[in-house]
Amino acid sequence: MLSPIGLKVSGTGHSLPARAVPNSFFETLLDTSDEWIAERTGIRSRHFSSESETTASLSEAAARQAMEEAGIGPSDLDMILVGTVTPEYIMPSTACVLQTSLGCRPIAAIDMSAACSGFVYAMSFGAAMLRDPSYKHILVIGAETLSRIIDMEDRTSCILFGDGAGAAVISNQPDSKGPALLYHSLHADGSGGKLLTLPAGGSKLPTSQMTLNERLHYMKMRGKELFKVAVLTMHESISRAVDAAGMKIDDIDMIVPHQSNARIIEATRERLGVSADRMYINIDRMGNTSAASIPIAFDELRRAGRIRSGDTVMLMAFGAGLTWGTIILRM
Ligand code: ACO
Repeated sequence: MLSPIGLKVSGTGHSLPARAVPNSFFETLLDTSDEWIAERTGIRSRHFSSESETTASLSEAAARQAMEEAGIGPSDLDMILVGTVTPEYIMPSTACVLQTSLGCRPIAAIDMSAACSGFVYAMSFGAAMLRDPSYKHILVIGAETLSRIIDMEDRTSCILFGDGAGAAVISNQPDSKGPALLYHSLHADGSGGKLLTLPAGGSKLPTSQMTLNERLHYMKMRGKELFKVAVLTMHESISRAVDAAGMKIDDIDMIVPHQSNARIIEATRERLGVSADRMYINIDRMGNTSAASIPIAFDELRRAGRIRSGDTVMLMAFGAGLTWGTIILRM
């Protein structure tokens, strides 16, 4: 863990595909029901991209909102970090696509593949870079078009996921007494990698007729096992973060958890003894948008005035890899 880093979230934004997809959509395809999905996941609707809505186009829209609020233009950015597991292409990176579409200088731009923890990883790396005073503004994005990689024949996973993008501009502050990143901690345990995978399309299993026939370009998930690890890890990480930051859980004004399943969030909240108004849930409208879920929720909360200047906010992510990470910000 690093000591506090002077850092201001000077703008946020988010963008969703136009098409909202209610649970009833899946009733027409699979043996499932609105009641089952709502009860077991908390999800009622999610957004799916059209052909013209892509990870980069959603990211660009979110980024422009964040820059507008920050009062900066593309030429003021010093770096672009994009958390995603559904990049525009394998190469070039989505961050490079954005560097050009936003009209930035030839600044550093890179994607980070940490699944649902992608935004928390990207913000942590961005914050570390802001220790170098030559970096003033870094654009951090979490963006996904998971609808492109879900298997519409697998009722245990396709009902969970949605598309969207969230962005934040993080800006250097002269000292860490005001707005700051107070704590961050990132982790991975590759031995749990098999719980959520996209088997084909990489160098181990390049695209072939066999991989297409066997539907290996779609996400495979062992949901029940993930559920248990998610609840344990989220509770443990949040508790450890507040201890390490010398705080108590009641010092955190708002927890923004990754939106994996409303039951996972509720179980974590109950174990922590936190009131419902201090642990945000929007999975009912978004589904699980992986790396995009935290920045979308963060932007909604800021725009609704539920996160204000001076508040202490925790971002907590858990996802495929396995990866997880926690950030505490003073706004
Ligand atoms: N509709 C109706 N029935 C279903 C559906 C469905 N969509 N999906 C599964 N079922 C059935 C199962 O077949 C099973 O039937 P059976 O008892 O006859 O065998 C029954 O419902 C119960 O299945 P479970 O898997 O035990 O259901 P569970 O309550 O665990 O819910 C779920 C499944 C929603 C996937 C849950 O395990 C979960 O949310 N896991 C975590 C997933 C997750 O967080 N993934 C992402 C984490 S990382 C990241 O965010 C990228």
